[in-house]
Amino acid sequence: MRFLEYNSAEQEIKDIISKSNPKEILQNCIEFLYEEFRKYSWVGIYIVKGSNLILGPWKGKHATEHTKIPIGKGICGYAAKTGKTEVVSDVSSDKRYLSCFPSTRSEIVVPIWKNGKIIGEIDIDSDMPDAFDRQDAIFLEKIADMLNKHIY
Ligand code: SME
Repeated sequence: MRFLEYNSAEQEIKDIISKSNPKEILQNCIEFLYEEFRKYSWVGIYIVKGSNLILGPWKGKHATEHTKIPIGKGICGYAAKTGKTEVVSDVSSDKRYLSCFPSTRSEIVVPIWKNGKIIGEIDIDSDMPDAFDRQDAIFLEKIADMLNKHIY
């Protein structure tokens, strides 16, 4: 992916947000990310509810068994605790990793902040090793900042 492609994807997400029925914004954005980026093999949003992360909209070939993750557990729970983006280039060598799909090789988790609080996160699995770089992190952090207004 080149810089320009991330830029145009960002524009398209803005468009999707402005044109979608409010109830479908998260699902439509997730689906766009999944369709647009080949290396994004599974894309989902987890929402913070109390001391857990609850799976919201997602798109991928398979459903995950991890629909409720305690904050602090797994890569997802870790990112929700620290508020920092986690990029894991090789999931098999990360002890925190909670396995969802046997095909997953790498993962990125981007917290969604609103009014100084972590309210959720974008979680993306890739079947490619080392699929995510700084550009993905910057791009997805921008998307998280756009989606935070649509999570209640
Ligand atoms: N791998 C995540 C769990 C969520 S699935 O990837 C959809 C983790 O380690 O927290």
